[in-house]
Amino acid sequence: MRIRKVVRAFTEPAALQNYVGFVDAVAEEHLLKYWECKQQLKVQPLAEKFTFTLACRLILNIHESEEVEELEKLFNRLVSGLIAWPVNLPGTRYNRALQASKELRKKFETMIRQRRTDVQEKKKLVSKQDIFSLLLQEKYKDGENVSESDLANKITGVILAAHISTSSTMVSIIKSLAELPQVYEGVLKEHMEIAKSKGPEELLNFEDIRKMRYSWNVASEVLRLQPLSSGTFREALADFQYNEFIIRKGWKLHWGMLLTQKKILNTFRILKSLIHRDLKEINREFHSRMSHLAEVLTYVLESSMLSYKSLYSCIM
Ligand code: HEM
Repeated sequence: MRIRKVVRAFTEPAALQNYVGFVDAVAEEHLLKYWECKQQLKVQPLAEKFTFTLACRLILNIHESEEVEELEKLFNRLVSGLIAWPVNLPGTRYNRALQASKELRKKFETMIRQRRTDVQEKKKLVSKQDIFSLLLQEKYKDGENVSESDLANKITGVILAAHISTSSTMVSIIKSLAELPQVYEGVLKEHMEIAKSKGPEELLNFEDIRKMRYSWNVASEVLRLQPLSSGTFREALADFQYNEFIIRKGWKLHWGMLLTQKKILNTFRILKSLIHRDLKEINREFHSRMSHLAEVLTYVLESSMLSYKSLYSCIM
């Protein structure tokens, strides 16, 4: 099953254009219900609620709030056991996560059976825009239909990937905006200009999103400095050399987003110290510093390109 191909079909710009207005409407509904008139609130659980609702609506086509809440509770139990001691005893987080995962799989298997029957009976046409429908059309290499349990696992994985990554990114962006008022002002100005150009009930469209150049840069910068994962794994498909390291075909590699960005912070520290010292001192240190900087910058550029390549391979 080609999960990456399916997700790409769903997240490519042509497909995204169809969801912008819908996401805007869900965001407005969410803000009015949970954010408006609150003096204080916890951003993270609310961001998770928002992205989970979106995932249910866009990926599974589930719109009833009771059904969404029931799934949300099960997913929360599953997530809280993802990083827990693997002790499968009643009452432990790990045990509760395993139970939740079983219940989720059962629910998804029922949905899959129902959708397959609907398609066979031609009650509903398969929509090309919904990941669930795209996954249902996937086959094993031998042409057989994918089993219900395999599909249920993939659906659980896609919902987790979509909902947790997006809510964590939202929380990091909001935190950065709270810490950097001048950046917050820039984002607000850009959004207000777009808001002023719209009618009272008019929803955002893809053109509006394309105008948000500054906001996009802020989001990219937040992801660069606070990547949501420490890194991911790869397998070398051929022998290759990276600097002085020789990597052999078949080796398992871990590329670390977090560590590469620490190098960037070092670069900032070096630049900051250069700015604050007096000119004589800068002159003395200039040559040794610059050669070190050039080395660090080359490293940073190479590693940022790796990070972006990976991010885009998932998002685009
Ligand atoms: C701000 C939002 C998001 C960020 C920052 C993000 C980031 C990432 C990263 C860094 C990876 C690992 C890529 C790698 O190993 O090279 C990944 C994998 C993945 N993401 Fe996202 N993601 C986001 C949103 C989404 C959404 C909305 C979906 C689904 C609709 C999604 C589905 C996936 C899937 C299925 C994988 C595993 C792909 C594979 O291993 O083949 N992600 N994501």
